[in-house]
Amino acid sequence: MKLGVNIDHVATLRQARYAGVSTAAVPEPSVLEAARAALAGGADSITLHVREDRRHMQDADALAVRREISLPLNLEMGATSDMLDFARKLRPDFVCLVPERRQEVTTEGGLDVASRADELRELVSSLTSSGCRVSMFIDPDAIQVEASAAIGAPMVELHTGRFADTAGDERMAELKRLICAAQRAHEFGLEVHAGHGIRVSTLPLIAQVPHLTELNIGHTLIARAVFVGLAAAVREMREAIDRAFPMA
Ligand code: PXP
Repeated sequence: MKLGVNIDHVATLRQARYAGVSTAAVPEPSVLEAARAALAGGADSITLHVREDRRHMQDADALAVRREISLPLNLEMGATSDMLDFARKLRPDFVCLVPERRQEVTTEGGLDVASRADELRELVSSLTSSGCRVSMFIDPDAIQVEASAAIGAPMVELHTGRFADTAGDERMAELKRLICAAQRAHEFGLEVHAGHGIRVSTLPLIAQVPHLTELNIGHTLIARAVFVGLAAAVREMREAIDRAFPMA
């Protein structure tokens, strides 16, 4: 099971103090240092989301991580032509297409691939021609899985947000949806990832979802890093993933 570490919140913290501020001080915390710590802690890839409004990650952050860090880079981006231009410049290994709303605190809901099929097919094809492997961040829904396969995406990332935010029977129903969607994706030959709100405590349930090959995790790692440092937080997560998903 691969661990993609999302370091967006490091940029969020930096922007909270330094957005639009001109200062002689070097703005902190450093996104590059975060990527180095994630590498030291055992991350398999670095994920960052360059939003249309550049509210946390800046173009320069992504370009610096691409240049300086040896890990594969996964760019999360909205499905727009401006972001396609940026992806062509950045040349990440992976692109995860996500829905974007300016007012949202974090990515809410999955991409509606089924209703934007023509536009997304073209985007996936352009990104693939630029050397990126593309995944669609979708709700665990058979219609979205089938639409992702139909437009030629090789991978899907199943949105685990609702699973993370519910409890009891509701959470178990969400788990069931994730299991069904993962099975369907596998039948279509898609690589299956999962992300959003995953924590150490939810890994044993997430491990019931079949065919997963990668988890993308951000918030809980940065929260834990406040107390133990990012490399240690990633190492703890790595160990917890290895316990929850023992090697076949
Ligand atoms: N995957 C995607 C597509 C996301 O948008 C996010 C949140 O930025 C994550 C994974 C990670 O979610 P979290 O920060 O809740 O771990």
